Amino acid sequence: MARLQISDSEKKRAAVRILGISGSGRERSYNTALLEAAKTLVPEAAVLEILDLSRFQLFNEDLLAEMPEEIQEFKERVKQSDAVLFATPEYNYSVSAVLKNAIEWGNQPNNSWDGKPAAIISASISLRGGAGAQAHLRQIMVDLNMHPINQPQLLLARTGEKFDANLKLVDSASLKTLQSLLDALVEWSRRF
Ligand SMILES: Cc1cc2nc3c(=O)[nH]c(=O)nc-3n(C[C@H](O)[C@H](O)[C@H](O)COP(=O)(O)O)c2cc1C
Repeated sequence: MARLQISDSEKKRAAVRILGISGSGRERSYNTALLEAAKTLVPEAAVLEILDLSRFQLFNEDLLAEMPEEIQEFKERVKQSDAVLFATPEYNYSVSAVLKNAIEWGNQPNNSWDGKPAAIISASISLRGGAGAQAHLRQIMVDLNMHPINQPQLLLARTGEKFDANLKLVDSASLKTLQSLLDALVEWSRRF
């Protein structure tokens, strides 16, 4: 039987477009570094693009009438994506203000997050690995009508031991879990 030939453009068209969103604007952010690691592990059938939303103006309903251009572009990119990968820091047992702010912009006036498959990863210097932030983000996603995968979970604790001085993720167990999580996200997204 003749083998089915798939052209490069067809492969590109079929690729799952994942939007990587970091909740930190810190120059040496572990969560952004985690997304950079994900970029190197993403399955061939997918592409991961990382967005910087840390300089967004604070959400205010009064601004909706004249929404800043970068926010309009952000909302469009969320809408165009096939899946969202959140990398969230934990601040005071919850998500960062940077992330919540972007979520609010995405949510109003029409919900760009609606129906999106998603996954959550987190990195923290503490022992808990961002468990509180992940739990809160899952709760927020109910209202956004997003569909996060449940397993595997990646809560990266004691980041100082998992990344090298150049913020490269070097912990083999974490790399393996991240790889599985990306595979699961791509598989999950294909079902939508
Ligand atoms: C104001 C503040 C509150 C924090 N609260 C928590 C917390 O509740 N739980 C936790 O695990 N880490 C907490 N941290 C530590 C951050 O998770 C840690 O700095 C992490 O590296 C931030 O993410 P980033 O490296 O991506 O910027 C807090 C840090 C700050 C500055």
